[in-house]
Amino acid sequence: MGSKGKHTAERYAVVTGANKGIGLETVRQLASQGVTVVLTARNEKRGMETISKLHESGLSNVVFHQLDVLDQASILKLAKFIQEKIGRLDILVNNAGVSGAVVDEEGLRALNIDPTSWLSGKAANLVQGVIKHTVEKAEECLNTNYYGVKRLTEALLPLLQLSPAGARVVNVSSLRSELRKHHFKQRIPGEHIRKELGDIETLTEEKVDAILRKFLHDLKENALESNGWTLMMPAYSISKASLNAYTRILAKRYPSMCINCVHPGFVKTDLNWNTGIMTVEEGARGPVMLSLLPDGGPTGCYFDCTQVAEF
Ligand SMILES: NC(=O)c1ccc[n+]([C@@H]2O[C@H](COP(=O)([O-])OP(=O)(O)OC[C@H]3O[C@@H](n4cnc5c(N)ncnc54)[C@H](OP(=O)(O)O)[C@@H]3O)[C@@H](O)[C@H]2O)c1
Repeated sequence: MGSKGKHTAERYAVVTGANKGIGLETVRQLASQGVTVVLTARNEKRGMETISKLHESGLSNVVFHQLDVLDQASILKLAKFIQEKIGRLDILVNNAGVSGAVVDEEGLRALNIDPTSWLSGKAANLVQGVIKHTVEKAEECLNTNYYGVKRLTEALLPLLQLSPAGARVVNVSSLRSELRKHHFKQRIPGEHIRKELGDIETLTEEKVDAILRKFLHDLKENALESNGWTLMMPAYSISKASLNAYTRILAKRYPSMCINCVHPGFVKTDLNWNTGIMTVEEGARGPVMLSLLPDGGPTGCYFDCTQVAEF
């Protein structure tokens, strides 16, 4: 790694949850384009094995550091490592994520659901028998996909602010987050939820916290549907809608950076029990494009793969 602060033309990136899936492919594509990447994974062994494979494939500009976004000590250790070894950060890809559900994978395969029903949300009723949404999994999902991103980003912001050209922050979101109409239907039925999360003029982190508290309350009371939450991956959906809201709040606060969120596409990975239809190479395109945005590029936007889209 370059010595502290000297090589300003070099770019340094952190990618979270990068031992497999879209995260790993994002590391591979960024490193191939000359970015020095800190590949992070919560499991040291899985992370080190992944790094060895990348090195064997000829990518030497990749280093490993452990990171569990649920563990504040682990977050602080990573920030200290970057501070000491690099002295700044140019690109942060918040990719780590969990589904928030317990699934009977065999039962799911037996249903043989076609990908379009997954995408439209029509499969929501079909999968109720094989996908369970427990409170424990929902809490883990919000803590990982939303609070994990917040904690890590806050810890790295002092280093991101030192990026000479303005840092790029990419939050990997999902179409389950969308507040706009899709085929005449709303992915998140409750208008009040969509209104609060969609109004950038009045959005605050405290408001997002309140929405998430209400969600967990309604889940515990078995009252999701009657309160306007979706039944299609409910915790995942609201975690990503909150992540988009946070992306917009941050983009407003740090106008010199490019801070965006992106739906990578419906990609075949472990997260969706390999029901996806796109390859990881295709799925990483959006996150990579947003990591390498030219100066003056968009900020505070949501992208559907590589295209800017409505929230
Ligand atoms: N695949 C899709 O169709 C799709 C669609 C929309 C959005 N996304 C988003 O894309 C991102 C990547 O997902 P993927 O599809 O590539 O799934 P994946 O292959 O399951 O990868 C998820 C990664 O996140 C890591 N992770 C989970 N909890 C973590 C934690 N507490 N700390 C650090 N890392 C953690 C996992 O680590 P372990 O290996 O240790 O479990 C894994 O490396 C996620 O944010 C997901 O929501 C995916």
